[in-house]
Amino acid sequence: MEILGIDVGGSGIKGAIINVETGKLVSERHRILTPKPATPENVAKTIKELVQHFNWEGVVGCGFPTPLQHGKCISGGNLHKKWKGTQVDILFKKKTGNDFYIVNDADAAGLAEVNFGAGKNVKGVVIMITIGTGIGSGIFLDGKLLPNSELGHVLYKDGEIFEKYASDAARKRDDLSKKQWGKRLNEYFEHINLLLSPDLFIVGGGASKKLEKFEKQINIETKIVPAQSENNAGIIGAALAAKYKLK
Ligand code: BGC
Repeated sequence: MEILGIDVGGSGIKGAIINVETGKLVSERHRILTPKPATPENVAKTIKELVQHFNWEGVVGCGFPTPLQHGKCISGGNLHKKWKGTQVDILFKKKTGNDFYIVNDADAAGLAEVNFGAGKNVKGVVIMITIGTGIGSGIFLDGKLLPNSELGHVLYKDGEIFEKYASDAARKRDDLSKKQWGKRLNEYFEHINLLLSPDLFIVGGGASKKLEKFEKQINIETKIVPAQSENNAGIIGAALAAKYKLK
C-alpha cells in the first residue's frame, strides 16, 4: 500500500509517497518553504500545493509540530498562535478533498524508527526525542505508541521548559559550544531517564546528525542512538500513522 506522507516543520513542509509495508520512499521528496506567517490558512494552501504536486487523491498522513489530541491543536507551539483549537484534519480535508490523519511530528518520527529503523524489534520502552527548533517526543512500549507526549515541555527551573534550554534553537541563541550544549542535553536526558527509565533513546531531528558532537557529554546508562532515517523519519511515520488510522 502507498500513502502520501507529509511532515510540517517550522522551515519546510516536506512530502513523499511511501510504501507503508517497506517504509521506503517511492517518489522523490518534495519540499516547500513553510509560509510566513505560518497561519492555518497559509499552511493549508501549502498542503494543497504539495498534494497537487503528487496528483494525490488518496489518504494523507501528516506529522504536525505542535501539541495535539485527536487531530486538534492544543497550542500553536512554535508554528503560530492561531493554530490553537484548530481541527487540523478537517481544515486540510476542506482545502484538498483528501482524508487526513494528523499525528505529532515526533510521534511520527518514532513510528518510522520503531517499524523500520533504530527501534525495530526492540522490546520494552523506547523513547524518540527529536531535537531541532523544539524538543519533541514519542513514547513506545513494545512498538506501540503512547501518543501526544510532550517531553520537551518538562520544566527544568523557574517555570522554564527544557525545550527553551536544550534545543538546537537554544544552542544557537546562547551561542553554545558543543561541550556546553552537550552538558545541557545531558541534564535533559538524565531527567527523562529518571522519570521513565526507558530501554532505548533514539535521537532524531536536526540533532540526529550531530549526535557524535555531544554524546561524549551524555552520562546515562540507557543506550542512546541516532535515528536511522534521519530527515525522512517524519514523512515515513506520518504515512504509517495513516496506515494505522491513528487519530
Ligand atoms: C512541540 C512538539 C513538537 C516539537 C518538535 C515542540 O515545541 O510542542 O509538539 O513535537 O516541538 O517539533
